[in-house]
Amino acid sequence: MEYYENTGYYETLHRVQKEAPFRPTRIVNGILKLGQSSISLVVVVGLLVSLSWVIAALLVVAAIPAVFVRLKYADKFYNWQIKCTAKERVAMYHHQLLTGDDHAKEVWLFGLGPLFMRKYQELRKQLRGERLELVSRRSAADLASQSVSVAAVFGSFAFIAYQTLLGSITLGDLVMYFGAFQQGQSFLNSFLTSMAGLYEDNFFLTYLHEFLDLEPKVKELPDPKSVPRTIKTGITFDHVRFGYPDTATAVKVLEDVSLEIKPCQIVALVGENGSGKTTLIKLLCRLYDPQRGMITLDGTDLRAFKISELRREMSVIFQDYVRYDLTARENIWLGNVDVDMDEVVRAAGISGADGVINRLDKGYDTVLGRRFEYGAELSVGEWQKVALARAFVRDSQVIVLDEPTSSLDPKAEDEVFRKFRQLVVGRMGIIISHRLSAVRMADLIYFLRDGRIVERGTHEELMDCHGEYAELFEIQARHYQ
Ligand SMILES: Nc1ncnc2c1ncn2[C@@H]1O[C@H](COP(=O)(O)OP(=O)(O)OP(=O)(O)O)[C@@H](O)[C@H]1O
Ligand SMILES: [Mg+2]
Repeated sequence: MEYYENTGYYETLHRVQKEAPFRPTRIVNGILKLGQSSISLVVVVGLLVSLSWVIAALLVVAAIPAVFVRLKYADKFYNWQIKCTAKERVAMYHHQLLTGDDHAKEVWLFGLGPLFMRKYQELRKQLRGERLELVSRRSAADLASQSVSVAAVFGSFAFIAYQTLLGSITLGDLVMYFGAFQQGQSFLNSFLTSMAGLYEDNFFLTYLHEFLDLEPKVKELPDPKSVPRTIKTGITFDHVRFGYPDTATAVKVLEDVSLEIKPCQIVALVGENGSGKTTLIKLLCRLYDPQRGMITLDGTDLRAFKISELRREMSVIFQDYVRYDLTARENIWLGNVDVDMDEVVRAAGISGADGVINRLDKGYDTVLGRRFEYGAELSVGEWQKVALARAFVRDSQVIVLDEPTSSLDPKAEDEVFRKFRQLVVGRMGIIISHRLSAVRMADLIYFLRDGRIVERGTHEELMDCHGEYAELFEIQARHYQ
């Protein structure tokens, strides 16, 4: 996850993606051409040496400036490419803003099209200008280097003609040497072009290796433990501290967080926006590791477990859950690809997605979303029901719902929470919600402020101590009175 928040990573990826479609074939072609032209070159140079080694040497020396220019500009293009990646990505982003469906509503409504278009054109113009300048400078340098080689050609022709006049070679030889020299030049050109091309291609391999050498930030121990199939004592956060990497925030997102979740318990996390609730879940799933303190499961540090097994035990629906442009069945089944249709329907029943899907043309086989021809678009709340079903179909010991019912109507929300209690039997549940009416039913509530846990207890206990939770609850309750 750390890489997705790192600009450097996106730039490396961008360069690799841009070059990957054509570089590999170029490299293969370059190598073949190099082999072909070097064989031909050896033969022709051998022939010329038999006439005069000076001419053969001249042929080679005359090509050196051109090679020099080519290599120098390959370096320049490489450096420019690195420098312009950021600009290219911003231009690409504006292109997406203009053409993608995610932003279309707002772009049209706010009339942002011309603004984004101008920005896009301006960036592309700058990039084009920079490239054009480099290309014209290279052309000028090419012209100069080519003049040297032309002079060498005419010099050699004059030398061959002079040898003929002196009678050292016959008219037949003259024709052969003219031909050999011309051919030699063309083979040499092709040889050097392939060499220089391979030198340029090598830069692509640099990008590629830079990308392939990226190491996962969340590492697994060489001999990881298995996650207990029945968690006995539960999950504990022990003085956990965490801040997102590469951010300037001096204050950590989570600071000295200690909490416990016991089997068969439903725990609720409450707190203002940005207090660190979602971050806490990301640590629990080992999408990141804490910088201080540790998280344990049955007393063992999470870092000791096999990552895939640990994640198998986590069923999380994040606030920004995914909407798959696939069939309704697949949208749920992706939560657990080992189950059959009955389980999918059962999970849909719990989340309320069942009713939504049965109204669709082809029921569970209807493609959701409008990206593909026959897709059916759902409302935001309906999508959320489908996402919830995906969490429920998972056979995991921990179920986490981050703002699970933010778009559900009150009846549907009530239904989900009632059924959630049954679902959590024998498992652990974590609920994050700003709707305190939903949080009320949790066995234990943790109240977070600025990354710290400031209150803990059941709803009744927290209400009795008249702290921040009680204040928040009363503010919400007032609206309903
Ligand atoms: N990927 C990230 N990179 C850097 N900072 C982040 C990232 N995600 C969250 N933050 C910061 O961490 C803090 C806590 O974010 P988090 O998402 O955990 O809050 P939250 O309690 O879930 O809030 P909300 O109620 O709005 O969902 C925020 O101040 C946010 O700016
Ligand atoms: Mg959140």
